[in-house]
Amino acid sequence: MLNVAVIGSQWGDEGKGKIVDWLSSRADVVVRFQGGHNAGHTLVIDGVTYKLHLLPSGVVRGEKLSIIGNGVVVDPWALMKEIETVRAQGVSITPDNLIIAENANLILPIHPILDKALEAARDPSGKIGTTGRGIGPAYEDKVARRGIRLCDLEEPEFLKEKLDKLMFHHNAFLRGLGADEVGVDDIYTKLMEIREQILPFSGVPWKVLEEARLSNKKVLFEGAQGVMLDVDHGTYPFVTSSNTIAAQAASGAGVGPKSVGYVLGITKAYTTRVGTGPFPTELHDEIGEQIGQKGHEFGTTTGRKRRCGWFDAVLVRQAVKVAGIDGIALTKLDVLDGLDEIKICVGYELNGEKYDYYPAHQKHQAEIKPVYETIEGWSETTYGARSWGDLPAAAIKYVRRIEELIETQVTLLSTSPERDDTILVKDPFFSQVV
Ligand code: GDP
Ligand code: IMO
Ligand code: MG
Repeated sequence: MLNVAVIGSQWGDEGKGKIVDWLSSRADVVVRFQGGHNAGHTLVIDGVTYKLHLLPSGVVRGEKLSIIGNGVVVDPWALMKEIETVRAQGVSITPDNLIIAENANLILPIHPILDKALEAARDPSGKIGTTGRGIGPAYEDKVARRGIRLCDLEEPEFLKEKLDKLMFHHNAFLRGLGADEVGVDDIYTKLMEIREQILPFSGVPWKVLEEARLSNKKVLFEGAQGVMLDVDHGTYPFVTSSNTIAAQAASGAGVGPKSVGYVLGITKAYTTRVGTGPFPTELHDEIGEQIGQKGHEFGTTTGRKRRCGWFDAVLVRQAVKVAGIDGIALTKLDVLDGLDEIKICVGYELNGEKYDYYPAHQKHQAEIKPVYETIEGWSETTYGARSWGDLPAAAIKYVRRIEELIETQVTLLSTSPERDDTILVKDPFFSQVV
């Protein structure tokens, strides 16, 4: 049996939470390895909805071990609030079933302030539309080697010195912007208050994961965002500040690359994007509106309306290659029910030239035009279908065409938000990787 890494193959919100929750029945450990509480993963179990931002989606099955890996940026206050919310829904969360990497970087109250100030300072065409959660500034501090990590809370005096240096840096910047400075003492006091709550969860995931490997336990790695939001492979600079591809599962959890196992790309049967940035197949018409309404395309984290468009096979094929996706879980097929015809982007054109990939330049990404193939729609409902036999022939044809175009197989198919409205084609834990 293999481990499985679940990642988004588009611009996030593909339904990763639902699939991770479904697959977690087969796993012993579920690990988040990048991103932060910019993520919003929705689980619907017997009509009850859980919205998770930092907690791994296996947490609702109390017996599974959840790990927040070193690659995640952790806002201690947001995490504690989320734990309270989920506990109020009857889920048990204790240091026995949740471990946070001692070397994970923290999001401090200064980071959302910087995130919003930077966004406000960008000219209209340069705005990223971040979630405002401080993700980018926290990762900046991490790579600049001045970040505060969970383990720093163990040594208050040392922490104070580190905070002094950090805030010396940021306050110079805030002064430059003409914004109010942020006091060190305030952040220090807040950290000393939250310390007793969060430190009991601090642990050493790489050791736990090595033990899991030696005892043949199964690990499910849960990605956030999607390949097109990856800081290297996405639509830079309109991306998030972490690597979202499967390779990050290894470095963001503390395991070797061979331990990542089968890479499952979660893929929506159409495309959405929240925030700004290029989106070649975006629909600005009634069909786009209809897809958004039917698919409830509003952000789990910020409540923003998601932009909607046709399935972009070129983009997903590129995601499959750069992220090493072995198979996809195709979600929200039901949202396309009732459309007379459905379009798929099969190539691009720019300045009279044809492209079979999405070029990297920001200007080219914005100007490129999609080339479509039109496929017959279906009038029957696929909502809640639990077997291939329940799917209309035209829907199956759509799925098969997607497989051909993206050059990989559909491993799972999701037909509603509910956990069990999922069709298993091939079990990723029992698959071969080539
Ligand atoms: P994530 O960020 O990738 O975990 O996705 P989100 O939870 O942000 O957004 C996906 C939304 O689609 C959630 O509201 C899910 O409950 C819902 N969803 C997931 N799979 C399906 C599906 O197959 N059909 C429908 N109609 N909704 C789905
Ligand atoms: P899940 O895990 C969709 C987007 C933001 C913005 C850009 C940068 O639920 O799929 P950030 O706050 O990360 O600096 O914002 O990335 N973004 C997401 N879009 N789903 C997400 O997560 C996202 N996380 C960040 O909207 O465009
Ligand atoms: Mg989401």
